[in-house]
Amino acid sequence: MEKKKKRKLKKGIILFLIIFILFWLFLGVYLFQHKSFDTKLKEHGYSKEEIQELKSHLEKKNLEIVLEYDYQKTILHILNEKDFQEKYFSYYLKFLNRYPNATSYDIVFFVNHGLEDITYNPDLHDIIHHEKFKEEYLDDYLKYYEEHQELDAEKIVIDVNTNKEEEDPNANLKPVGGEVTSNSNSNSNQNSHKNSNSNSSSNSSSNTKDPKEEDIPLEEITALFLGKQYMVDRNMDRYRKYYLSHKNLSADEIITRVNSNIDLTAYKDVTASDLGKGDLLIVNKYYYLDKNYVPSNLVAVNSKHGRGYLKKEAYDAFIEMYNDAVKEGLYPYIQSPYRSYSYQTTLYNNYVKRDGVKEADTYSARPGYSEHQTGLAMDLGTSKNHSIGDFESSKEFTWVSKNAYKYGFILRYPKNKQYLTGYMYEPWHYRYVGKEIAKYIYENNITYEEYFEYFLR
Ligand code: DAL
Ligand code: ZN
Repeated sequence: MEKKKKRKLKKGIILFLIIFILFWLFLGVYLFQHKSFDTKLKEHGYSKEEIQELKSHLEKKNLEIVLEYDYQKTILHILNEKDFQEKYFSYYLKFLNRYPNATSYDIVFFVNHGLEDITYNPDLHDIIHHEKFKEEYLDDYLKYYEEHQELDAEKIVIDVNTNKEEEDPNANLKPVGGEVTSNSNSNSNQNSHKNSNSNSSSNSSSNTKDPKEEDIPLEEITALFLGKQYMVDRNMDRYRKYYLSHKNLSADEIITRVNSNIDLTAYKDVTASDLGKGDLLIVNKYYYLDKNYVPSNLVAVNSKHGRGYLKKEAYDAFIEMYNDAVKEGLYPYIQSPYRSYSYQTTLYNNYVKRDGVKEADTYSARPGYSEHQTGLAMDLGTSKNHSIGDFESSKEFTWVSKNAYKYGFILRYPKNKQYLTGYMYEPWHYRYVGKEIAKYIYENNITYEEYFEYFLR
């Protein structure tokens, strides 16, 4: 009897212990999951109040954030967007994961318009935020953008609006809105373009080719360009040719484009970069470096300034800039300076694998075509945060973007110049060209392509 009682007691204790352990185990896992959720949110910059707000949003709407997703702060903004729709929540999250820099407005906008698979980029952002953007023309903007990626958002929106307003939806869209007409004295603008179209006979579409165009005397076209700033004689034929297919662009704009070589085919109509130009050589989608080219006098960057190697003169200029920045409590950091041909090959191939050739070409140079191979270019971060992607939001950027020219550096791929430089805006990429030239480029707001063609080639 005694033995039986003891055995029962033993069993009871074991059972109790098992239940006790299981209880704490489940509680532990539950608390850990919730803590890690909160912790992750905190890591992404959420305040306590925002975490509460996010949780209550999710509970109210009966939504879940799947653990595989990142916890960007944008999620809260998405939930607060005016046009937020519960049924699309998982699409918003997917979009955000593909494009972590997209704004909540843009994510909701594109997903709600059934465009969750679109290749999002800053140009599209600029188009849908343009003051003259009209939602009903969205498809037209996207189509036009697809065909004319060299144009900036401003031009896309204005061209499409003008074409639509001319009520000629079947016509081939073409650039409009410049000041050039076949009359060389003209100061006319879009209005005159409209007038000339409205005067045209009812049968001829406003956007179809006027057969008389081909008959415009050469001298008349030439006269459009003569005396213009940055005109170079050797490009006159190309200006004329470009004009014939872009009649309504201003003469200055045509000169800018042709001098930047965008009338040529990138990576196809190419020339070996002239090494005789020394530190002023140009490397872009039309000028390349041999795969064995390694710049002379590369020096190692001191770890307090960054990493890697730069040409001595560029590094000396950086040190001068750095020392002045430090006086302001700022610490720019050289994150990516000289790159060998083979390193650029690895980088570019990885980008292509990830995003495809077309997209990779907007932000990464093909091997032999990267300015980093010159040893005169550097991508900047800060000593606190080496990430070049965060550079633009740093105080260092604000200072460097205003002062770099004083030390001989230019912002090589500026905003809204993608169609000229061939690359999207890179707030982190600086190129050494020497003080005098950097000052000119900064003050005149031109690209190195334009400067090189006019002053150096
Ligand atoms: N990101 C610049 C364009 C390069 O790859 O050289
Ligand atoms: Zn760079």
